[in-house]
Amino acid sequence: MKKRVLTTRENLPGTGPDRLAGAAEVVAWSGTGRPGPDELAALARGVSAVLALGNDPVDAALMDAAGPALRVVSLASMGFDNVDRDAAAERGIVVTHTPGVLAETTADLAFALILAARRRIGAAGAGLAAGSWDLFRMRDFLGLDVHGATLGLIGYGQIGRAVARRAQGFGMRVLHHDPYAAEEGLSTPVSLAVLLAESDVVSLHVPLTPETRHLISARELAAMKPTATLVSTARGGVVDERALLDAVRAGRLHSAGLDVFAREPMGRELSPLVAEPYVVTLPHIGSATEATRAAMVDLAVDNILDVLADRPARTPLPG
Ligand code: DGY
Repeated sequence: MKKRVLTTRENLPGTGPDRLAGAAEVVAWSGTGRPGPDELAALARGVSAVLALGNDPVDAALMDAAGPALRVVSLASMGFDNVDRDAAAERGIVVTHTPGVLAETTADLAFALILAARRRIGAAGAGLAAGSWDLFRMRDFLGLDVHGATLGLIGYGQIGRAVARRAQGFGMRVLHHDPYAAEEGLSTPVSLAVLLAESDVVSLHVPLTPETRHLISARELAAMKPTATLVSTARGGVVDERALLDAVRAGRLHSAGLDVFAREPMGRELSPLVAEPYVVTLPHIGSATEATRAAMVDLAVDNILDVLADRPARTPLPG
């Protein structure tokens, strides 16, 4: 009898979904809005694997709803703060994610946010779309230079290093702060205090953990230059969003570029950051290219097929 697998979305990209359907009976959540815990629990009964996205809550209740057949929770995401790892370990469930395949694409987006926030691309484009363009003025939509600026990377893993490589082309000086970084590469390791004080752009590349929650709060924002830009493609919880709003509104920080928020998705109740003229906001699209989303799903499927065939998972969560 074929094993059952739950996917928390239907119509996933890549070749993985067909391979999965060939090997297992796939049940997919197909509602609108966000999958509710009860809906997922009802579908999970008896499944051997769950393929979930990076902000679907995968908690003990979902694991218990699946029952003892559940062997693997496979995330099509690099981040894994949405999974109760202790609950999975207690139940002997392997948890996997998709590092590597999305690093370059997410670094591209971080760089797009750096450029958009400092060069006021969103505001200028919206200004044009909203009206007419009658006169070229020397002082319209003035931004701040990216080339030659100092970039501070908080977190120097795969994505942080990919951003550092891009920064070389812009002639930037690159600093990083990461107590866990194994290599220095193109960037100079510094303390958090030095990074905040010297950077023109601070870009976040850390996972959300108890240690990094609100890593950037009022104190850190006050330590940054008033001409600086904060960029995050990491997780919303790393930044105290209220403190960021206050800093930008008070002109204590030049700008911000955010792809991630503490509350995702936002539905119609948008964060006040979305309407701020010096804040560029995006709906968590860091990995959203055709090739990368397909590669993420393919790897997530490979992880499931490996575990169900008693092979070691390719990309289990780091210990
Ligand atoms: C990731 O892979 O962690 C992206 O942010 C998508 O969730």
